[in-house]
Amino acid sequence: MRFQLERILSPEQLQTLRSKLLDAASPWQAGIETAGWHARAVKHNRQLARDSDLHRQLAAGVLQALAADPLVQAAALPLRLHSLRFSRSGSGEGYGRHLDDAYMAEGRSDLSFTLFLSEPADYSGGELVLEFPSGEERHKLAAGAAVVYPSTLLHRVEPVGQGERLVAVGWIESRIRGAEQRELLFELDTARRSLFAREGKSEEFDLISRSYSNLLRLWGP
Ligand code: NI
Repeated sequence: MRFQLERILSPEQLQTLRSKLLDAASPWQAGIETAGWHARAVKHNRQLARDSDLHRQLAAGVLQALAADPLVQAAALPLRLHSLRFSRSGSGEGYGRHLDDAYMAEGRSDLSFTLFLSEPADYSGGELVLEFPSGEERHKLAAGAAVVYPSTLLHRVEPVGQGERLVAVGWIESRIRGAEQRELLFELDTARRSLFAREGKSEEFDLISRSYSNLLRLWGP
């Protein structure tokens, strides 16, 4: 399952983030330094140094905003959102076809996310391309919007032509490892919420809620 989040950050938050990130004194380094061994040949971008004060200061707010999103909670069932990195790609930069590492220092990658920080009009190219079995899907979203997708997919970032692409990327370790189980739980949760909205706390709502909670316990860590 992949889904989009329309507005994770407000225009004011975005403005603040962008001005701090693009300040000439901000500590950017070559993205290749954090690439897995098999992704090194295709990773051509820059990342904000993760051990910098600026990174710590900015990453916490972004992770909090994402974790607070109701759709993230319902569809991803996150145990933790982790390994956030700010990435920028200028003219000629991008990130060729690759697969994200399954395990990182801070957790397992079940779902990946890209939060767009630049407006689409501010750069050409730079689409995130996801390779589904049914075909490719291209994402280039408004600033403040995000796409969350299974970390099991091959994906790439098309080379940027003009301008600069600024994003935050990171991963979600879910309470539910299997995508099919996660989807079943999301459907049950959606059904019980709609039932509750229609008729309040009915007998059927209680039964579905019971199944939902018990499956979560059964399948969870
Ligand atoms: Ni990736």
